[in-house]
Amino acid sequence: MGITYEDFLDLEYDPLDDDLVCEFYIEPADRMDWEAAASRVASESSNGTWAELQVEGSVRDLSATAFSIDEEAGHIEVAYPDALFEPGSMPQVLSCIAGNIMGMKAVDRIRLLDCEWPVTLVESFPGPQYGSAVKSEILDAGDRPATATVPKPKVGLTTDQHATVGYEAWTGGVDLLKDDENLTDQSFNPFEDRLTESLAQRDRAEDETGETKSYLLNVTAPGSEMLERVDMAAEHGCEFVMVDVVTTGWAAVQQVRERCERHGLAIHAHRAMHAAFDRVPDHGVSMRVIAQIARLCGVDHIHTGTAGLGKLENEDTEGINDWLQGECHGLTDVLPVASGGLHPGLLDQLLDELGANIAVQAGGGIHGHPDGTHAGAIAFRHAVDAAAQGHSVEDAATDCPELERALEKWGTETPR
Ligand code: 3PG
Repeated sequence: MGITYEDFLDLEYDPLDDDLVCEFYIEPADRMDWEAAASRVASESSNGTWAELQVEGSVRDLSATAFSIDEEAGHIEVAYPDALFEPGSMPQVLSCIAGNIMGMKAVDRIRLLDCEWPVTLVESFPGPQYGSAVKSEILDAGDRPATATVPKPKVGLTTDQHATVGYEAWTGGVDLLKDDENLTDQSFNPFEDRLTESLAQRDRAEDETGETKSYLLNVTAPGSEMLERVDMAAEHGCEFVMVDVVTTGWAAVQQVRERCERHGLAIHAHRAMHAAFDRVPDHGVSMRVIAQIARLCGVDHIHTGTAGLGKLENEDTEGINDWLQGECHGLTDVLPVASGGLHPGLLDQLLDELGANIAVQAGGGIHGHPDGTHAGAIAFRHAVDAAAQGHSVEDAATDCPELERALEKWGTETPR
């Protein structure tokens, strides 16, 4: 007998410990019942197709099984045997669980909501080197959130302007200067010049403040060029690199992770383009799963949104952060980064929602301060410190004129 779609459905199936279990939201297409749609998802994402296949033997052991259907919620669960996956290859895993099924006509909508990762698969990935320990092992952030800023305009500043903005921000109290997602190696601000000049200003800021400062250098580039940039970052004395993990792709992230371990460099993951997968709530791949993938591949920081307080849409920041910092078969945790439209007036609310074991990042909310970057950084850091100690930002402004000015300008508005 051949393999047909029905072979991929078993509502009595009890997943094995080493199965990867995926939860999907689906909307079956017209004239497609739930069981038919669910079995097609399991089939196309493992080893079936539309035609009956005449094969015998162990090939059936690699089939996924749709084992749960909740029509009311629109949720199905599919269990994948671990032998289906190449250990340690995120592109291969995703080509199964988020591959062809995203476009199949049997469903009008399909979203990969969540994964339960089995120990066998998890152990085949490196996970982060530092995670939230960056706050004490690399920075002096202790129990408060790490603070970061990205120069604005995001591209267009010369190298000298960029490094000067860094100096102003670092000496104002910010821990990390961060490149923006679309600043890499352009003629107005070449990579190696920026690296050298920014670190020179970093050293100066450290001497003057006595605090540890660091730089999230965007090494995003095609293939081998990115690895060369990682090497250059290490040679010049960086502690971090930054990677646009979605646009660059998970295979490249895995390569960077491997190279960073040689140098002891931590990885800051920017998630630009994630919303192409996760913004439409009934289709694509959830940010929760993107964050899971990033942790397995081994980033130390990842942007997870601002709990609705900033300028960007985001899903369930708190739940995603909890997953990133929760137990997952011994993987190191990840420090979540709240970024996108933050300013001092939002920080007490933000920390109420997300706690202090995060990094907080502001571009416009520092450089848009009426008195400039240095004042903006003082205001931001003062607000972070106050919020981390459980004080309101408004009260904290009474002894910080820079924060008072920031609150006069932005209040507690959510920018759009
Ligand atoms: C980021 O990298 O998250 C953004 O560039 C943030 O910029 P903003 O703080 O000005 O919104």
